[in-house]
Amino acid sequence: MANQFPEGFLWGGAIAANQTEGAYLEGGKGLTTVDLLPTGEKRYPIMTGNLETYEPLEGEFHPSHRAIDFYHRYKEDIALFAEMGFKALRLSISWARIFPNGDDSEPNEAGLQFYDDVFDELKKYDIKPVVTLAHFDVPVHLVKEYGSWKNRQLVDFFEKYATTVFTRYKDKVKYWLTFNEINMLLHLPFVGAGLIFKDGEDKKQVMYQAAHHQLVASAKAVKAGHEIIPDAQIGCMLAAGMTYSYSSNPEDVFDAMEKDRESFFFIDVQARGEYPGYAKRFFEENDLTIQMEPGDEALLKAHTVDYIGFSYYSSRVTSTDPKVQENKTGGNVFGSITNPYLKASEWGWTIDPKGFRITANQLYDRYQKPLFVVENGLGAIDEPNENGLVEDDYRIDYLREHVKEMREAIKDGVELIGYTSWGPIDIVSASTGEMKKRYGYIYVDRDNQGKGTLQRGKKKSFDWYKKVIESNGHNI
Ligand code: BG6
Repeated sequence: MANQFPEGFLWGGAIAANQTEGAYLEGGKGLTTVDLLPTGEKRYPIMTGNLETYEPLEGEFHPSHRAIDFYHRYKEDIALFAEMGFKALRLSISWARIFPNGDDSEPNEAGLQFYDDVFDELKKYDIKPVVTLAHFDVPVHLVKEYGSWKNRQLVDFFEKYATTVFTRYKDKVKYWLTFNEINMLLHLPFVGAGLIFKDGEDKKQVMYQAAHHQLVASAKAVKAGHEIIPDAQIGCMLAAGMTYSYSSNPEDVFDAMEKDRESFFFIDVQARGEYPGYAKRFFEENDLTIQMEPGDEALLKAHTVDYIGFSYYSSRVTSTDPKVQENKTGGNVFGSITNPYLKASEWGWTIDPKGFRITANQLYDRYQKPLFVVENGLGAIDEPNENGLVEDDYRIDYLREHVKEMREAIKDGVELIGYTSWGPIDIVSASTGEMKKRYGYIYVDRDNQGKGTLQRGKKKSFDWYKKVIESNGHNI
């Protein structure tokens, strides 16, 4: 088959500060929301907005505190990415490294210097950084003192943070993303927006108001980014995956459309510049009032994103039939029904390569803007063999099938900038906090309790991905 990946296609991997760096209070960094998330049973209630204390919990293990120690080992890790031939590395800046409290008058120089060093290291190998401004972390001080994204003031703090990093890295970073998986706010509000709910509070009202603040902050960041870095490409980021209707019953089909719109709502604003009609109806019927300031609508309209970044792990299935609804997949915040045609990962995430092509087409048809696949991959348990090698053929199979479908999407006419698979080196899982849910081409010796040498080792998939990149997607 002819090679369909364009010249300059950005192959690489994606990581996030809070799941990788560790050094959670080093270099002047402030505490962030993720630093309050332990592994185990106490994690999920906090992720959904039930936080009891603004300190890490005594006696619990908090995986972000050391993560995989990228903060001290980034040179070694970047050298391994370079060996695979990465053209791009997606990473996030930790807001609390730059503004430890979020509302500080001056940025923290040590934090700024750390990312300067990381970007310089990438430059040595000609790896382009793709930088997310907010990947599931908010400085804890902003949560405690202001109520996080509930509060309009967060827009100003975020704008200052964005402007600071655009100015500092304007010659080093051209690809930016504003909020990681912005639609996650509706599913894991503490993770997506640092939201904590008081008793009796209307959660929907709080979440959609916070969403408005993030959308305004995103538009302000796009505006500032374009002013400071004229050739910047600034994208949004959606946790994507088309919702299928379980049956041909129009009620189910309509439900599937509505489920997709719950997520598209964010991207419709970021990419088209206005609140869609269906959202206005939804607000009205649910008695929600979104407080806007004069100028918000014009700002959203004028500063739309340049490209659509998205993560794709699974498609989703919905039904209005209560009997069918009993058949939920495990470990999935989007609450999907099991798809009888497909297998699932060890964590219950449906594996659907064709759905990747369908989703890419759906997004491109809707927005007609370049797409960037900024996450995709298989979380699995890896056991090194007697020689210490992880033979992760299951991961290679998953990725191969997805890369094939991505190629098909390009042949369908979808404009794709790049593909950064999730966790090219094993990192902490965002949903469970586990280390054993691994995505990497590079193994990290660390377990769920934080034990291990942190030593890095190549898995079988390392050479596979290297060949994929070398051949620009021909050799899969
Ligand atoms: C996305 C996030 O939701 O999925 C990542 O942007 C996350 O931060 C990834 O790690 C995979 O999820 P998990 O829970 O397997 O780590």
